[in-house]
Amino acid sequence: MAMEIFSNSTSWAFFCFAAAILSAILLTHKRGHNKNKKKLPPGEMGLPWIGETMEFFKAQRKNRMFEEFVQPRMAKYGKIFKTRLMGSPTIIVNGAEANRFFLSNEFKLVISSWPTTSVQLMGSNSIMEKQGDQHRCLRGLIGNTLSSAGLEVLVPKICKSVELHLEKYWNNSIDRISLYHSTKVLTFTIVFECLLGIKVESGTFSTFERILDGVFAPPLAFPGSRFSKAKKARKEVEKMLVKIVWEKKKKMEEGREGGEEEGTLLSHLLGGMIRGEITEEEVIDNVVLLVFAAHDTTSFAIAMTFKMIAQHPDCHTLLLREHIEIMKQKTEGDILTLEDTRKMKYTWQVARESMRLFPPIFGSFRKAIVDIEFEGFIIPRGWKVLWTTHGTHYNEECFEDPLKFNPSRFEETIPPYVYIPFGGGPRLCAGYQLAKLNILIFVHYVVTRYDWSLIYPDEQITMDPLPFPSHGMPIKLSPKSRV
Ligand code: HEM
Repeated sequence: MAMEIFSNSTSWAFFCFAAAILSAILLTHKRGHNKNKKKLPPGEMGLPWIGETMEFFKAQRKNRMFEEFVQPRMAKYGKIFKTRLMGSPTIIVNGAEANRFFLSNEFKLVISSWPTTSVQLMGSNSIMEKQGDQHRCLRGLIGNTLSSAGLEVLVPKICKSVELHLEKYWNNSIDRISLYHSTKVLTFTIVFECLLGIKVESGTFSTFERILDGVFAPPLAFPGSRFSKAKKARKEVEKMLVKIVWEKKKKMEEGREGGEEEGTLLSHLLGGMIRGEITEEEVIDNVVLLVFAAHDTTSFAIAMTFKMIAQHPDCHTLLLREHIEIMKQKTEGDILTLEDTRKMKYTWQVARESMRLFPPIFGSFRKAIVDIEFEGFIIPRGWKVLWTTHGTHYNEECFEDPLKFNPSRFEETIPPYVYIPFGGGPRLCAGYQLAKLNILIFVHYVVTRYDWSLIYPDEQITMDPLPFPSHGMPIKLSPKSRV
C-alpha cells in the first residue's frame, strides 16, 4: 500500500513535472514561432503555390510592374514586403540600403537565382551560375578584354561595325527604319565580332534570337513550345561554337594565330582553357550568356535614349553641339578614339537619365543561403529576394522630381546603390564599358549623319519580361546634307 501511495505520488509528481516541461517547450516553441512570424516582413502570400504571380505578370505585361505591383504594396506595407511568386516565397526590397545590403552580400548571404529555363538555355557553366573562385576567374577573363588597353582597341572596331551597319541597313532603306530591331542586329554584331572576335555568319543572329525567345518562357518541352524551339536553337549554336573553339584552340596552340595578345574575349577564354582554368563547356556557355546579357539590354537603352532626345529638343541641340565639337577636331576619314568618347559627357548624361527612367532590367532575383536579418525582419533561408531598380530610380528621396527627364542631374555625384541600371556588388554588369561605348558611338554616328523623327512618339513599352518598344520604334530618316 505504502508502495502504491509512493508509486502514485511519484507518478503524479512525474506527471506534473513532465507536463510543466512540455508546456514550457510548447510555449517557447510557440513564442519562437510567433517571434519568427512577427519578424517576417508584412505582405500577402496569396494562394498556395500561385501566390500573387498572376498580378505580378499582369503588371509586367503592361510594363507597369513598379506602378501596379510594387508601389501599391509599398504604400501598404513599406519598402520591404513579402509575397509569393511562381511557387517561391519572395521578399521584394526597395531602396539604396537594401540594394547595398543584398547586392554586396552576394555569395555570403544570397546567391543569384535564375529560372530553370534560363539556366538550361544559357548553360549551367555560365558566369551567372558561378560562385566564389570560379566566378572571379571568369570575371578576370572578361575584364582583360574590357581593360583600358582593351577599350582603346575596341573603339575603332565598334566604329567600323556601326559604319558598315548604317551603310547596309540604313542607307538602303527608303525613309524609315525600326530603330530597336536595327540596334539588336548591331549589338549582336558588336558582341560577336568586336568583343569575342567571331565572324557573324548568315543565320547566326536568328538562331540566337530563338534561344533568347525561350529564356523566360515556361519550362514546357512539348514540340513547338517556345522552350523546345529555344533548346533546339541552343543545340545548333553549341555545334557551331564547338567547331569555332576547336579550330581556334588548335591554331593558338600551334602558334598559327594570335594568342591572348590579340585581345579578343574568345582568345582570353581559350587562353584560360589551354591553361586549364576553365573548360570547353564554360567557354561555350559564356559566349551564349554574353550575347543574352548584352542584346536586349543595350538595344533598349539605345532606343530609350533616342526617344528622350526626340521628346526634348533642347537636349537634342546640346547633344548635337557636343558631337559637332568632336567632329571639328577630326579630318575627313578619321575614326573616333577612346579619348573622343570620353568627351561625350553630356551624351552619357542623357543615356544615363534615359536608363534611370527606363531601366532595361527591372531588378533581379536572389536566393537567401542563410537566415538573414535585415532592418528588423527575418528572411528565411531558401526564400527569394527581388531587388528593384525603380525602388530608387523613382524615389524622390533619391532623385528630385524623379519622373522628370533631367540629364544634368548626373553632373552631381550620385550616392552608391542609388542609380543601379547595371546592378552592383560582385555581380555588377561585366559589360558596362562595352554597353557605354556601344551607346555613345551609335548616337554619334546617327545624330551627325541623319535627320530623324519618331513615327509613334507615344509608342507603348511592353515587357516579356524585358522591356521593348511595342512597334520596334520605327523612325523617319533622311541623310543630313552637312553637319
Ligand atoms: C545597357 C546595357 C546593359 C544593362 C542595363 C545591363 C545590366 C546588367 C545588370 C543589372 C546586371 C546584374 C544582374 C544581377 O545582379 O543579377 C548585369 C550583369 C551582367 N552583364 Fe550586363 N547590362 C548591359 C549590357 C551588358 C553587355 C554589353 C554585356 C557584355 C557583353 C553584359 C554582360 C553582363 C554579364 C556577363 C553579367 C553577369 C555578371 C556576373 O554575374 O558577375 N551586360 N548586367
